[in-house]
Amino acid sequence: MLKIDGLKVNYGGIEAVKGISFEVPDRSIVTLIGANGAGKSTTLRSIVGLVRPAAGNIQLEGEELTGLPTDRIVSKGITLVPEGRRVFPDLTVLENLKIGAYLRNDSLDDDINWVYELFPRLKERSWQAAGTLSGGEQQMLAVGRALMSRPKIMMMDEPSLGLAPIVVRGIFDIIREINRQGVTILLVEQNANMALKIADLGYVLETGRITMSDTGAALLANEKVKEAYLGKGG
Ligand SMILES: Nc1ncnc2c1ncn2[C@@H]1O[C@H](COP(=O)(O)OP(=O)(O)O)[C@@H](O)[C@H]1O
Ligand SMILES: [Mg+2]
Repeated sequence: MLKIDGLKVNYGGIEAVKGISFEVPDRSIVTLIGANGAGKSTTLRSIVGLVRPAAGNIQLEGEELTGLPTDRIVSKGITLVPEGRRVFPDLTVLENLKIGAYLRNDSLDDDINWVYELFPRLKERSWQAAGTLSGGEQQMLAVGRALMSRPKIMMMDEPSLGLAPIVVRGIFDIIREINRQGVTILLVEQNANMALKIADLGYVLETGRITMSDTGAALLANEKVKEAYLGKGG
């Protein structure tokens, strides 16, 4: 469904992503794991048009996305849940959700109900300012806001960051459920253990290059992956 071919991204003279290629099949969960600074966020940001690639192609269902502005890319069905959640702290939960649908002009009621079914805690806190939510609840809100654009693919940048393990487990259960309901997932994580457990396919990113790719289960059992990425956490 999503195909990345030879993607390169530079910041000034720094090559952050050095020509990577990977695919995200329809309705799958794919994870990109890697250490801090490997180029994970840069990859996601370039897919959604927030940074301009120096080379390479990005295609969704055979259609070229490379170089399109972010709003066009989002309206074609790709959304990003950014690192650090980035909810609007002074707006209510409901207002934050409505912002996720800013490119649409049809009725939002069904989608708001869908998000509230997935996250009953958000429904209870509909009128609460987002800044007063816990970290886990803010992550739920960031996911809910992304779903309001009715994405075919939801990309998530380190949803587990800074959250307690039990909260992370809850978030990952919901990611699975969202996927079961037909949304393709591209998940970027330093928490390789959790990510590989739910992933159909995984890619290991090291300083801007993909060094390994396999099924989630195979990578989880791989000695090199265990040594480098599964030592702690999860
Ligand atoms: N806005 C930026 N300007 C300059 N360098 C950046 C910028 N964002 C990221 N980088 C650099 O690009 C590399 C990859 O960063 P990033 O994609 O954020 O990695 P990750 O998400 O895997 O931690 C790092 O060396 C980082 O310092
Ligand atoms: Mg990052």
